[in-house]
Amino acid sequence: MLIESLRSERGCVSYVLGCEKTRAALIVDPELSFVDRYLVLAASHGLRFHYLFDTHTHADHFSGARLLASRLDVPIAMHRLAPAPFVDLRVEDGEELIVGELRVGILHTPGHTQDSTCAIAAGHVFTGDTLLLGGTGRTDLPTGDPEALYESLFGRLLQLDERLLVHPAHNYKGLPATTLAEQKHSNPRLQQKERAGFVEQMRSLSLDMPEHLTEALRTNCTGGKTVEQIISEAAARVSFMSMQELARRLATSDPGITILDVREADAYLAGHIPGAIHLPRGQIELRADAALPDPMVRVLLTCEVGKISTIAAATLRDMGFRGAIALDGGVKSWREAGHPVASGPGPARR
Ligand SMILES: [Fe+2]
Repeated sequence: MLIESLRSERGCVSYVLGCEKTRAALIVDPELSFVDRYLVLAASHGLRFHYLFDTHTHADHFSGARLLASRLDVPIAMHRLAPAPFVDLRVEDGEELIVGELRVGILHTPGHTQDSTCAIAAGHVFTGDTLLLGGTGRTDLPTGDPEALYESLFGRLLQLDERLLVHPAHNYKGLPATTLAEQKHSNPRLQQKERAGFVEQMRSLSLDMPEHLTEALRTNCTGGKTVEQIISEAAARVSFMSMQELARRLATSDPGITILDVREADAYLAGHIPGAIHLPRGQIELRADAALPDPMVRVLLTCEVGKISTIAAATLRDMGFRGAIALDGGVKSWREAGHPVASGPGPARR
């Protein structure tokens, strides 16, 4: 079996498993930020993905399954208890996914979440957040249950062949995979072999909440877009002007652009790029025609850091303002770079 692992800066790990003979492949826990890398990996190894498999509903990173599924027309598989409505194949304990000549067995291991699973293939076990190298998944996030984790670990996972190599969904220190036997022997959490002691150990952990917890659960459970996705999709549909180019134009008698500042009024009044018209982001659809009577005008959108102006430029393009572009950066950077700033109502407020 071909195995490639990709580890993010936050220590989340996903795996590409490939059948060497047939080139059929599956991704375990695909991450949104790695979508292009999976496609490059598949191309370089001559693989074709047959399944996208999430071991559980992630609360700490954004699953790439939905985006990959739509791009590649490949089914998403998860345990039947997964809340996401877009799962194509709801699997149960004891079932197998066939990937070329590989047989990927599903073991239901609730505890970290109720839909947690491990995937077993060719001498390897992909443990999701049920078992980590030197640790276990936490049980204090939605649907977590320390009693269930105890059963899943001691009653199920640790009963498997001890020679299985463990590949978790988190590997914060980049540790090499070890066997189940090694984890049984050295993993500190697994030394609490009695139910009460193990449960108490899990309940007494005081862990910080993951960054982006709400956003990750929202997008992973519903298939909705992350904020970063919304911004990057907008950025792909507009073009940008550098601060240097804008500064050069403002120094001339005719800059050749209309500048639109889309921040709220207090930020605009406190300081804006000279000549900028004020039109808050929330009013663009309703007031764009009045503010920009010429639909062919070349209009440069600005905001505080350059994200909202990108979304606003895409909105204007949707409305037919084909000359809408965004500043590469925001008024904050413009100000910090020492470029001129005007305060007060500004010109031609509409
Ligand atoms: Fe998790």
